[in-house]
Amino acid sequence: MEDVKINSIINDINEKMKNVEGLNELYALKVEYTGKKGIITELQSGIKEATDKKAYGMSLNKIKTEFNSKYQEKEMEINDRILKEKLESERIDITLPSKRIRRGTKHPMTMTIEKIEDLFVSMGYDVVDGPELESDEYCFERLNLPKNHPARDMQDSFYITNEKLLRTQTSAVQARYMESKKEPEPIRIIVPGKTYRRDDDASHAPQFGQIEGLVVDKKENNVSLADLKGTLEIFARTMLGDDLDIRFRPSYFPFTEPSYEVDVTCFKCHGKGCNLCKETGWIEVFAAGMVHPNVLRDNGYDPEVWGGFAFGPGWDRITMFKYGIPDIRLLYQNDIRFLKQFDRKDD
Ligand code: DAH
Repeated sequence: MEDVKINSIINDINEKMKNVEGLNELYALKVEYTGKKGIITELQSGIKEATDKKAYGMSLNKIKTEFNSKYQEKEMEINDRILKEKLESERIDITLPSKRIRRGTKHPMTMTIEKIEDLFVSMGYDVVDGPELESDEYCFERLNLPKNHPARDMQDSFYITNEKLLRTQTSAVQARYMESKKEPEPIRIIVPGKTYRRDDDASHAPQFGQIEGLVVDKKENNVSLADLKGTLEIFARTMLGDDLDIRFRPSYFPFTEPSYEVDVTCFKCHGKGCNLCKETGWIEVFAAGMVHPNVLRDNGYDPEVWGGFAFGPGWDRITMFKYGIPDIRLLYQNDIRFLKQFDRKDD
């Protein structure tokens, strides 16, 4: 084969390769050269007529090598380009903001309890628990409420047997806690817990929550009514408003003497008088008093040596006041539309 012819075939190959854009075109070119009737295939069969077979073979090889190397080069180039285009089109933009995940919220009562616990723990109290299925003995008898005591009528109870009932008050834990001490020792506890009574209207639910408080110390340390007042003042101001005052009204509870109902300045009208406080300027929030000597004695504390105070607000009421909730039943229905309103409204 003459040099001129080889060169022109190789030039042709290079020229055509240059213009190839996609894989299909490349495959077509392969057929054009190496297919059954391809240019190279035909040249191969021309060897029979060649006078200098060796020289012809060498020339042929040169053409083949050129074709193959250009072919591979092109194939790689096209594949690279396809891959790049694919990566580009499938790129994930990690800077896009993610879909908003709905988060749950704490129940308003949980927020109330947590805040009260934080406050009392900061004042050195322990948080204590007790059974909800309670015995008549701890719920009443050890709290100066013997069987047939008329003050039992103040609490409509759920009895399971004659001796077992769903506790009507967290005060039961006062007795349990005092009795649990081998030797009397000073006590400073709060007892947040569920309580049960046969009540059911807009301001009473059959299950509700109380937070019992009990402080007992040696008489010589003078735990007094003033301490009770100061404690409830801090309680009311932390939960309901910095500028509120409290007032004590005489009342009766068998387990305290003297006993009080404790009002807080109406946080809606600040004492002026409104529909919430029934024009009185005050709202009843706490029940409290100085621990009755019988309660101390019946639970292992000598009332000549020991004394203290107790209090027991309902946490539902505090929650309702704190967040302006008009009906106690909303707290127990788990209606998502209601609960969603407390999203991160911790204060
Ligand atoms: N346990 C009482 C009730 O449920 C409330 C109460 C009153 C608790 C006076 C006390 C207290 O600790 O001292 O009606």
